[in-house]
Amino acid sequence: MSIQRTLSIIKPDATRRNLIGKINAKIEDAGLSIIAQKMLCVTQAQAKAFYQVHAERSFYEDLCNNMVKGPIVAQVLEGEDAIHLYRTIMGATNPSNAEPGTIRHDFGESIDLNSVHGSDAPETAAQEISFFFSLIELCK
Ligand code: CMP
Repeated sequence: MSIQRTLSIIKPDATRRNLIGKINAKIEDAGLSIIAQKMLCVTQAQAKAFYQVHAERSFYEDLCNNMVKGPIVAQVLEGEDAIHLYRTIMGATNPSNAEPGTIRHDFGESIDLNSVHGSDAPETAAQEISFFFSLIELCK
């Protein structure tokens, strides 16, 4: 295991319900450090580019539409085994399958409105972090 960085997004369904603080508490309680964070509204084109990997999936249009419904919070998390650790505390993609105490179980409304996104591997983490942040914005 090693110190890693991963990209987290607190999605519009969660910012709309004032859940940023509660989600950040779960992140920090798990031992992850938030080393960069910003709130922004993405355009449809930006959402489509970010989720390009899912372009052929039936849920792609809905996914991109949901990402432009309000502000998001993009974050870089750092810590030991951060990519796997964050996916563990996020819980399963579908909140109905997520373990109690995970972010998606406690706050997610549905598979489409599942409150958070986290990178799934070191290569995607690097790509996704650079999508939202420049080197000078990382506070370490
Ligand atoms: P996220 O981790 O942001 O990655 C892609 C998103 O697509 C996912 O969370 C879900 O919100 C959404 N999605 C909708 N349907 C599905 C599905 N069947 N499988 C995976 N992701 C889905």
